[in-house]
Amino acid sequence: MTDVSALKPGSTIGIFGSGQLGRMLTTSAAELGLKTHIYSDVTGPACDVAAENTIASYTDFEAIKSFAKSVDVITFEFENVPLDAVKVAADYARLSPDVRALEVAQDRFIEKSFMAELGIPVAPFANIESKSDLAVAEKITGFPAFLKTRRLGYDGKGQARVTTPQDLQHAYVELGEPAAVLEGHMHFEQEVSVLAVRGSDGAVAFYDLPQNTHKNGILNTSRVPSTVPADVIPGAHDIAHKIADALNYVGLLAVELFVMPEGAANRLLVNEIAPRVHNSGHWTQDACQVSQFENHIRAVAGWPLGATDRHSAAVMTNLIGQDANDWARLAAQPGASLHLYGKRQARPGRKMGHITEIFPRTPQTKAKT
Ligand SMILES: Nc1ncnc2c1ncn2[C@@H]1O[C@H](COP(=O)(O)OP(=O)(O)O)[C@@H](O)[C@H]1O
Ligand SMILES: [Mg+2]
Repeated sequence: MTDVSALKPGSTIGIFGSGQLGRMLTTSAAELGLKTHIYSDVTGPACDVAAENTIASYTDFEAIKSFAKSVDVITFEFENVPLDAVKVAADYARLSPDVRALEVAQDRFIEKSFMAELGIPVAPFANIESKSDLAVAEKITGFPAFLKTRRLGYDGKGQARVTTPQDLQHAYVELGEPAAVLEGHMHFEQEVSVLAVRGSDGAVAFYDLPQNTHKNGILNTSRVPSTVPADVIPGAHDIAHKIADALNYVGLLAVELFVMPEGAANRLLVNEIAPRVHNSGHWTQDACQVSQFENHIRAVAGWPLGATDRHSAAVMTNLIGQDANDWARLAAQPGASLHLYGKRQARPGRKMGHITEIFPRTPQTKAKT
């Protein structure tokens, strides 16, 4: 446990990545009198709002060194920052979360093996290094199964659902024969995520679990309260707590879970983790006293965590591609908060913004009768 002294207002938080998550982290930091400095290899939505930006390659170690020296702590808004770059930064600044969290989250095989070591259930899975591993893998998972690249997949990219050995062969070639995992298709009741925040003193707080739906492999909606049974919630918290402690994690950690039907060998399976703020937590901006973004900033700044209590029910819907062209109508919608990321091009599948509808609060779950 590393209890660090709190950064004073006016301090600067370095953020790797320039996307919308960095933008929302930056505006939350600003609310607390803190500044951010973005490091990314591309100009993105965060650059419009940050106090400072460094746009340079992740292999430009000199640029990384000066960035790290210029900030008071470094955090991440995306997990795929090359580890070599992260390690250079770690020589000059404190990292929250630490390298290990990224290492685990960057590679689906390491991630699943890490869960297995902690005794946390995941879908049956197999590592694939080459075509010759496919036959053994399909025996472990059965069909249907999901073939996923070990690295760099997101929003359903780098994966395929396969139903036969021929299908699997074909999909593996289509993906370019990468290092991959095959995992069994889980017939879950619903998908939820745990949004846990861990402070530098090891204190952990949880938001209510959002229930998530996906469209074309991309998160579509997150709603609270979820319909997850009350008796499942403590187990979900335990899983996230265990992961956060094992990583000596500081910041907001998201754990995507499959909720399996009653009677299944394991009621909860971890799908994947995100060592950062998460799309399924965007509703916290409008339905909680302190959002996931502010709590992440508080944690990495060594501040006390803020209240995660939810004062409203909420449905967050992502605005993908052309959806955001409807901004004028959406902005006029009663009871809804519109958030746009300021991206100039509305490419298909691109996250352009989100809208959160707010309703009177109902509790997370009803007790069983
Ligand atoms: N093993 C599985 N069984 C059933 N559905 C799955 C499985 N793996 C992925 N999915 C579905 O695909 C979505 C995206 O997969 P995920 O592994 O989370 O990739 P991404 O990194 O793109 O979010 C999941 O949220 C879930 O809806
Ligand atoms: Mg996912």
